[in-house]
Amino acid sequence: MTMDQALLRQAVEQVRQRWPQVRPRAGLILGSGWDGALEAFQVRDTLAYAELPGLGAAAVDGHAGRLCWAACGGVETLVFQGRRHFYEGADWTPVALPVFLLRQLGAELLVLTNAAGGLHPDLDAGDLMIITDHLNLMGDHPLIGPHDPAWGPRFPDLSQVYCLRLGQRLERIFQTLHLPVRCGVYAAVTGPTYETPAEVRMLRGLGADAVGMSTVPEALLARAAGLRVAGISCIANRAAGLQPRPLTHEDVMETTRALLPKLRAVLEQFWKELPHELSPTHPVA
Ligand code: HPA
Repeated sequence: MTMDQALLRQAVEQVRQRWPQVRPRAGLILGSGWDGALEAFQVRDTLAYAELPGLGAAAVDGHAGRLCWAACGGVETLVFQGRRHFYEGADWTPVALPVFLLRQLGAELLVLTNAAGGLHPDLDAGDLMIITDHLNLMGDHPLIGPHDPAWGPRFPDLSQVYCLRLGQRLERIFQTLHLPVRCGVYAAVTGPTYETPAEVRMLRGLGADAVGMSTVPEALLARAAGLRVAGISCIANRAAGLQPRPLTHEDVMETTRALLPKLRAVLEQFWKELPHELSPTHPVA
């Protein structure tokens, strides 16, 4: 599968038409159960995903499917309330669109959030993990296809996808707020089934600490396109076979939602500190 570059450019034009003043400096994609984290932001206006060419209607329970023009700590931000997933079966366009939009509108960094299954013995339901690296086990890649220089070089370097400084800043914020957090490797699989216990053992053996069905495509696209990336996983459950009950999307949503006050507090503080991370002059889009 590939992505439709023309459609991506149309979406950028659409947003520019609707919001001629939009100049985001950062982006935030809210994963399963994270929608309420938007409350950390002041929202200026919203656009339904259905109104954006290439993004369409978000099809997953618990995802609002809205693009929010927002700010927090004085930092103008595009918040994607709900993400599109590879398992929905469209091409990569809807997954790539938020990253492309941010790049074209001049944003410098992207924070990715998700719900994930815990593989590391210390990662239990309700724990939080700062993503330090990833395994792309989706069996596909959003940059397969004709090379578009908007996505960086033909062979982008991924030796540090998740910005070390942003990760350390997040870790400090968690500590200051007295919230336990771990750092770890996130493995992305396609879903939509959860894993089998044998797959979970394999993933652990491969070095993954958590597993989920998102984030990696956006992270590698953003890195390729020159954005700095941070990622936070809410561990919604122990992965299959490591907990006594079968996994359900409802449980995943519920565990993540229960953590929302903490997640909001972390994001709010992170955004307050973001001016230290952004370049002093805003790049012209
Ligand atoms: N596996 C994959 N994706 C997930 C899980 C899981 O256990 N929990 C939440 N998203």
